[in-house]
Amino acid sequence: SEPLNIALAGLGTVGSGVVRLIETNADLIARRARRPIRIAAVSARDRTKDRGVDLSRYQWLDDPAEMALRPDIDVVVEMVGGSDGPALALARNAIAGGKALVTANKAMIAHHGLELAAAAENAGVALKFEAAVAGGIPVIKGLSEGAAANAIERVYGILNGTCNYILTTMEASGRDFADVLADAQRLGYAEADPTFDVEGVDAAHKLSILAAIAFGARLRFDAVETTGITGVLAADIAQARALGYVIRLIGTAEIDHTDNAALFQRVRPHLVPCDHPLASVDGATNAVVAEGNFMGRLLFQGAGAGDGPTASAVVADLIDIARGEKGAAFSMPSHELEALPPAQSGHRTGRAY
Ligand code: NDP
Ligand code: HSE
Repeated sequence: SEPLNIALAGLGTVGSGVVRLIETNADLIARRARRPIRIAAVSARDRTKDRGVDLSRYQWLDDPAEMALRPDIDVVVEMVGGSDGPALALARNAIAGGKALVTANKAMIAHHGLELAAAAENAGVALKFEAAVAGGIPVIKGLSEGAAANAIERVYGILNGTCNYILTTMEASGRDFADVLADAQRLGYAEADPTFDVEGVDAAHKLSILAAIAFGARLRFDAVETTGITGVLAADIAQARALGYVIRLIGTAEIDHTDNAALFQRVRPHLVPCDHPLASVDGATNAVVAEGNFMGRLLFQGAGAGDGPTASAVVADLIDIARGEKGAAFSMPSHELEALPPAQSGHRTGRAY
């Protein structure tokens, strides 16, 4: 059968992981996709960089913009990063050129997801972004398909691997924040600009995407009340521990029924009792809890960052496309839920987790 021809833009942690995965598991991927997935072209900034994979068999493009114009390419896989700039230009042009788009870029989806989803629906192509939320955990699929019959009341969890790695490593070893952050960067967990991680912005990107899917609400990243972990001191972690708690950066999205139903979204460090399931989530692991009116409480847990897990989510999207999937997990909101702006959500005391 005809291969699915893909072009890879970005060959860093995620992009080179995707090359490795497609090469290593080519046969089983072809069986599950019902056709081979073929890398037709690749692109990054520096052609000479050693990426630990042999790229000589693939066509190199100096400018990823070419991918959108090539008639032989079916899918563009965007793994460059950044909410705007070359990533967004490529995404828009690829969809306008009738190509499916797979992206790991939560910043771009949080800012421009609705526009891109509408464009993909109009063009009759797929827009897929499983890797954008919680790395290797299939939480977009889980919520949009597995939990589709439920009214979701609340989604919350640990959505940033870098912060969780920092908090849990500081907790276990007493090591210094900056030192542990440098490790997270070396391991490929952190964003190109790690302030997005440690200031909670990356978790807020992911939370807004999850909330749009879970509640069928308009995607509103700007309405997430966001506090990161830069103010958490080693002494806070030690004192929390002495009282039977750990500190975790948690994103929460829930419906506030106090007035008219409204969407409340917040990312901030929480004290978590040592016997709570989220307390044992360590390293770059993520965990997402979803509460639905018929399914009860679901817990998704797994590697939230890094090359292998993230590549696994990217290639799962490619398999769906190879099988004929089109459209996006969200497009226009199914109902209008007003998102509470940060200033108005702060008064809430919240329910117990
Ligand atoms: P990296 O910084 O490791 O890789 C980025 C890649 O994009 C590099 O290959 C770089 O080229 C290339 N690139 C950057 N700017 C340009 C440009 N202007 N034109 C062409 N190529 C460019 O990032 P990651 O792989 O870590 O992340 C990629 C995306 O995946 C981001 O959106 C990130 O948020 C997301 N993501 C990352 C995860 C992770 O664990 N790392 C997990 C989930 C999502 P060169 O190598 O030559 O410099
Ligand atoms: N920087 C992100 C994190 C990568 O640490 O969770 C995965 O999205």
